Amino acid sequence: MAKEIYLTGDRPTGRLHIGHYIGSLRNRVAMQNSGDYQPFVMIADTQAFTDNARDPEKIRRSLTEVALDYLAVGIDPSKTTILVQSQIHGLPELTEYFMNLVSVARLQRNPTVKAEIQQKGFGESIPAGFLTYPVSQAADIAIFKATKVPVGDDQEPMLEQTRELVRSFNNAYQTDVLVEPQGVFPPKGEGRLPGIDGNAKMSKSLNNGIYIGDDADTLAKKVKSMYTDPTHINIDDPGHVEGNVVFTYLDIFDPDKQRVQDLKEHYQAGGLGDMKLKKHLIEVMEVHMKPIRERREAYAKDIPAVMDILKKGSDHANEVAEATMEQVRHAMGIDYFAK
Ligand code: TRP
Repeated sequence: MAKEIYLTGDRPTGRLHIGHYIGSLRNRVAMQNSGDYQPFVMIADTQAFTDNARDPEKIRRSLTEVALDYLAVGIDPSKTTILVQSQIHGLPELTEYFMNLVSVARLQRNPTVKAEIQQKGFGESIPAGFLTYPVSQAADIAIFKATKVPVGDDQEPMLEQTRELVRSFNNAYQTDVLVEPQGVFPPKGEGRLPGIDGNAKMSKSLNNGIYIGDDADTLAKKVKSMYTDPTHINIDDPGHVEGNVVFTYLDIFDPDKQRVQDLKEHYQAGGLGDMKLKKHLIEVMEVHMKPIRERREAYAKDIPAVMDILKKGSDHANEVAEATMEQVRHAMGIDYFAK
């Protein structure tokens, strides 16, 4: 039986942080290594242009950074097709056809897009490309006939719109060439790393992130500045564990659950200093991050080789996409000159 296809992607607008790693990248690597899937991972540069149209330099720079982050965490180009969205010729065409199957009102109802519009302060000047990016994202998914899309919870509305568009297309042209995808979401309560300042969201604009490519000193410095418990002033004071970022990270990065439990009890009773605790966190994080960082540095020495991986991935992806597009054009009856 043909393996299930999974597809996911990231906008190249900066380096990826360990929130991405915990929330999604490590799951992609696990799915890749299970051997149960045919994986595609997309660097969504076209989508990055929908809100960075005037900053191509940032997108270009971030494309390499994101590729290095992928390779560093173990996305393996011999198992996963790593592709660049703008290089897939069928995508703008399928997007154009999908555009006729969705109403402007429907686009305006997408809660994730609505929130982003607020956040970015577009006001009355929402770029049309931004409002319609879920249509382009539906094409990303549909063109590869992906059935599984591992993403964060904020992407559920995109999956919903993709399913609607696939149904509308198949219905309008009386075909079954396109398939409806399912999202694969992180388990509840997991997959969300707070920023080092305690903010629930790790983000570049908040300057509270730890990056996959951070060197050992930067990582240590960031952990040492982590938000803990403001009421824990003297070492002997009883401390709080909830909302204490160091413990949130230990829960995720320390494989020895009993040890974490003992540390929590010690901290709550008093007598365990923040610095001692943070040094322990630095150690357990290094176990995860050191091999990742070293792999990143090795790849970074040969950027042309990284670009070649992206080129080969995009070439392969173009073949898969073009096969779908031939079926799409046939279903629509516009394959006028096909033999
Ligand atoms: N919207 C996704 C994000 O902001 C990126 C993305 C683009 C994507 N195309 C996709 C995700 C297709 C999954 C499938 O992170």
